[in-house]
Amino acid sequence: MFTKIANIFISLFTLLRVIVAGLVSLLYLIVMGAVSLVSGGIGPFLLKPATQQKVFNVLRAFWPNIALNTVIIKSYENTGTVIVTRREDVLDVLSRDADFEVVYGSRMKKLTNGDNFFLGMQPGWDYQRDVSAMRLAARIDDVPNIILPNAQTRSAEIVESAGGKIDMVQDLTLLVPWEMTSTYFGAGGERDAMAEWTTNLFWYLFADLGADEQLDDIAMSDAAALRSYLDDHIAARKAKPTKDDDVLNRCLALQKADTPGMSDLGIRNNLLGLLIGAIPTISKASCFAIDELLNRPEQLAGAQAAARDGNDALMANYVWEALRFNPFSPLLYRRATRDATIAPSTLRRVRVKKGQMVFATTAAACFDPYDLASPGAFKTDRPWETYIPWGYGMHKCFGSAINKAVIPAILKPVLMQKNLRRAPGEAGQINNGTSAFPQHFHLEWDR
Ligand code: HEM
Repeated sequence: MFTKIANIFISLFTLLRVIVAGLVSLLYLIVMGAVSLVSGGIGPFLLKPATQQKVFNVLRAFWPNIALNTVIIKSYENTGTVIVTRREDVLDVLSRDADFEVVYGSRMKKLTNGDNFFLGMQPGWDYQRDVSAMRLAARIDDVPNIILPNAQTRSAEIVESAGGKIDMVQDLTLLVPWEMTSTYFGAGGERDAMAEWTTNLFWYLFADLGADEQLDDIAMSDAAALRSYLDDHIAARKAKPTKDDDVLNRCLALQKADTPGMSDLGIRNNLLGLLIGAIPTISKASCFAIDELLNRPEQLAGAQAAARDGNDALMANYVWEALRFNPFSPLLYRRATRDATIAPSTLRRVRVKKGQMVFATTAAACFDPYDLASPGAFKTDRPWETYIPWGYGMHKCFGSAINKAVIPAILKPVLMQKNLRRAPGEAGQINNGTSAFPQHFHLEWDR
């Protein structure tokens, strides 16, 4: 009885907190938005994760699920946009494949010059065939046995020999995942070209909201180059086999055993998809985590102490919490395959029309006070399930175990350094150059 009464008060208190946070955030957005507009900085203001959280606070309080006729994403066909902010609803959308489909297939087919890749597929045989075969080639056990030790050794060597300063992106966060594709996938190609191709192609597939024609041209040319590299590489490996225990050789062994989906073309397309997913992503997430920690001296000190004490689990918790505040991406999107309802039988119920794009705002979900304790606090004791850094449901990242191991491995030797700081001026800020992903980020420490 007492618990029931307490729960009623807790629910009312949470509702009140959500409404107050919504009102305060609305005021902040009006005032700071006006200031940014006048000073000409409205774009950067809106892109800041902290601003986005304020927008989510307002939506959560007054309009948790909104349906708009406006088309926001131009790169994939759709008839409007539905924004979903409550954690329960975000996870629901990402679990309902029959109602809300992945949309990437049309562009994926342009990149392979024919076939889809499994991230662009709905449930069915094609998806099962490709994922199952690739799971046999890229095994979960490889993470502790091969991938993690390599990433730890290489990151430590790189930081050790850096001489007290480093361009994180070029010398560490792009390099370590590329080396993983080279030695573990067995298909890394030439380093700079591979980093550039995969970065542009990732951008084209997932973040080209305005359907930029110039990016389309770049993507078509980079995809052709990547296909050509992979076709030649697979043919060369078959002509002159190696004994390396890498993903490519395992795919070729599966091909010999007549495994479905493992034709030369199937192997090429699966490797193409994996390569695009692997390099720019790990790099960007690693940069965003350290960037956030550098903005928070107390948490940086905590993460550094954990790194130096060899408390890898605690250090990793700092990293995941930093990525909650500075996420790789604020949302995932899906298209409604048919008319559907989100949050039925609730006051926030929303009707989604067939063809509308649904924004599952994972960044809002990770700050939902209805599901998280003290969402605004930086806490290192949150259960891992709190985080949604690489998706949810059927399409949850194929490389999730890799990411969970490799990102902390890349950052640990950096965090161990004394007086870790940004390089002076602009160099010490993440610089995307002309790309949508970090290209430079200079840090320094005492030797
Ligand atoms: C920090 C690094 C990474 C991040 C943030 C990330 C993010 C994501 C996200 C959000 C999804 C789901 C997309 C959606 O549902 O619309 C996804 C799927 C996927 N990722 Fe990653 N990823 C990362 C690293 C990797 C790596 C290292 C690989 C390759 C080994 C990879 C390969 C894939 C593939 C193949 C899928 C599709 C899975 C499926 O459809 O079943 N990703 N990733």
